[in-house]
Amino acid sequence: MPDVPWWNSAVIYEIYPRSFQDTNADGVGDLRGIIARLPYLVELGVDAIWICPIFPSPMADFGYDVANYIGIDPLFGTLPDFDVLLAEAHRSGLKVLLDLVPNHTSDRHPWFVQSRSSRDNAKRDWYLWRDGGADGAEPNNWLSQFGGSAWEFDPHTAQYYYHAFLKQQPDLNWRNPQVRHAIYDAMRFWLQRGVDGFRVDVLWHLIKDDQFRDNPVNPGFAVGGPPHEALLPLYTTDRPEMAEVLAQMRDVVDQFGERLLIGEIYLPVERLVAYYGRDLRGVHLPFNFSLLGAPWHAGTIGKLIQEYEAALPKGGWPNWVLGNHDRPRIAGRVGRKQARIAAMLLLTLRGTPTIYFGDEIGMTQVPIPPDRVRDPFQKNLPGIKMGRDGSRTPMQWDDSRYAGFSEAEPWLPLADDFRQYNVAKQRSDPTSIYQLYRQLIALRRSRSALLRGSYRPIHADGDLLLFFREQGPERLLVALNFGTGAAVAKFPDELVGTLLLSSHLDRQGEDVRGTIKLRSEEGVVIEVAGKTPMR
Ligand code: NOJ
Ligand code: CA
Repeated sequence: MPDVPWWNSAVIYEIYPRSFQDTNADGVGDLRGIIARLPYLVELGVDAIWICPIFPSPMADFGYDVANYIGIDPLFGTLPDFDVLLAEAHRSGLKVLLDLVPNHTSDRHPWFVQSRSSRDNAKRDWYLWRDGGADGAEPNNWLSQFGGSAWEFDPHTAQYYYHAFLKQQPDLNWRNPQVRHAIYDAMRFWLQRGVDGFRVDVLWHLIKDDQFRDNPVNPGFAVGGPPHEALLPLYTTDRPEMAEVLAQMRDVVDQFGERLLIGEIYLPVERLVAYYGRDLRGVHLPFNFSLLGAPWHAGTIGKLIQEYEAALPKGGWPNWVLGNHDRPRIAGRVGRKQARIAAMLLLTLRGTPTIYFGDEIGMTQVPIPPDRVRDPFQKNLPGIKMGRDGSRTPMQWDDSRYAGFSEAEPWLPLADDFRQYNVAKQRSDPTSIYQLYRQLIALRRSRSALLRGSYRPIHADGDLLLFFREQGPERLLVALNFGTGAAVAKFPDELVGTLLLSSHLDRQGEDVRGTIKLRSEEGVVIEVAGKTPMR
């Protein structure tokens, strides 16, 4: 497609490398495992993979505590392995995105080791060091997302350092130009090797208030929620100086041609869109997480789509996410049948979709016995039942002992039902959710209305969500039934078309005239012939 960057029409697939494919029987996935499964990704039809952190790390937060930005952790393989992965992926037509973690390092990173060694070390100012209050207490009330104060006292130099996550993840000082340049150098290292871009971890956290003011109390705090939500993160996140950082990061990638920056940003939509940057000189795709926690009702979803569409800056390209390694799995949240509706929504909305590995086979949220919990967030906050392990369990490839993931006991337990829900089984079942994903991806690729067309909602009541995707003469109608009862979508007589795809995978080619009958939890895509019906 002329003048359209590759990521505009791409489907992105998130790989949590610990859980994708193990090749050396240590129970943890690795790079050779990803290489071995590239043909699967081609078969599924995705265009790009985003691999969660694979850099040397003590693994306190499973790779999000980076001890060296320009290497590969031996658990995952070697730099030559990575080069093979990149070359093989490119040969297969797949782009590769790495996970950049610029907000914090591991406490074992040499930068932090130096920084903490003395108050006058050259790297002291690379992190956020503060004196305690008069009584020796924490410098202010800032809270860690992983529980407790965000300040850790370091007796050696008798100051506190700030950590938005674990105390093993000290935050870098993004006001220091040397820090910025060190991270930009790391980005260039990978871009020169040929990676196609980055997903940027907690992008909205990079800059903190220079006066270290206390965060205000959150009047809407819900008891039982994550404890850090007791305060509003006014002075710890989304600071005005981010605009300049965004533009700088963008300049770095733009020097390498068409590379992609995706930002991990959990903010209300009106703030989220600021991360497209001034004059769109920010990240190409600020991750849109609005579906992750939304109540699963047609009306609510319809409204959030419209709010998102309305908030986009001119020229800003949309994107949609249904799941990731931090959030409960979609099939766990809405059920396996409704997960098909979710798939259809994800792959027919306007914008770049990101699929979380395993969602394409309907993997569900796996209950983790207390003695197998690995997530540091849940270990810190055992009471709150928001652990992330349940969405990080190994990929279910087949019905062999360890689901084809490994020859050894995996680092997290497998789902009880993996013998029923696995790639091998769904490959041979023409009505499986895996086949639905494949067909949806193939359909997207074949229709410019789905890739680039406008989004036009149609008013509907109850459990129905209806919208058109239109591009030139091409006009598709998407009708999704969020309910368990049958539903009928009525249109003026002139709606005539052909059913292209049903979520049940059994009505292809049906003629449509005026009325569309949907079964329980069914979604359909219809190619509309003739003129556009009235709203
Ligand atoms: C967001 C990542 O997705 C999550 O897994 C991690 O724990 C935090 N950032 C801290 O890096
Ligand atoms: Ca391994």
